[in-house]
Amino acid sequence: MDFFEQVEKAGIVPVVVIDDASDAVPTAEALLSGGVEFMEITLRTSCALEAIRQVKKNVPKMNVGAGTVLSLSNAKDAIAAGASFIVSPGFCPEVVDHCLAWEVPVIPGCVTPTEITAAFNKGLSIVKFFPAKVYGGKSAIKELAGVFRQVRFLPTGGIDTENMDEYLSEPYIAAVGGSWVCPSKMIASHDFEGITKKCTEATQKIREIKKES
Ligand code: 3PG
Repeated sequence: MDFFEQVEKAGIVPVVVIDDASDAVPTAEALLSGGVEFMEITLRTSCALEAIRQVKKNVPKMNVGAGTVLSLSNAKDAIAAGASFIVSPGFCPEVVDHCLAWEVPVIPGCVTPTEITAAFNKGLSIVKFFPAKVYGGKSAIKELAGVFRQVRFLPTGGIDTENMDEYLSEPYIAAVGGSWVCPSKMIASHDFEGITKKCTEATQKIREIKKES
């Protein structure tokens, strides 16, 4: 199974903001205990690269990637730190080309037909759709999916356990992403049991949705 098939099977890629690198490993372990095998550590904090390094070294079962990758140098740093995939909020050709050259899976943010066309022409099969709620949610993605039939979407932004079924029940949605299963506040207060509980709720629901669809 390749990376993109694994993402589709998992159904969820949490967006994780780590403010203290020492929280990275317990957060990864809390996600795994709740059945979540992917985590996108965002390069929004100064310790993000160290957080990726720690998870890569200490939690081998976790597929740790980097998010908020805005530039080629971000992508190079994240890959050097051990990120096994790259997610961007927008479409940056230099980031995509670098990842393709290094055979690192990349999911760029694309919300317009022009951006999705750019991703399609790079041979990408999954694009991030962010911020999903603001850009029209499922109905917008449905219209785009009708045209871009080879592309599948990873919506993020405003998704949670309550509304994820409206996305995941559609065949053109590869998986959902977001921060609701591991909010920064819960990480900062070391509520790792709470994170596991949220992950368990989400993964149980994903299993039910996938059985139904
Ligand atoms: C992202 O980077 O995809 C968003 O920050 C996630 O949005 P959320 O916090 O609403 O889940």
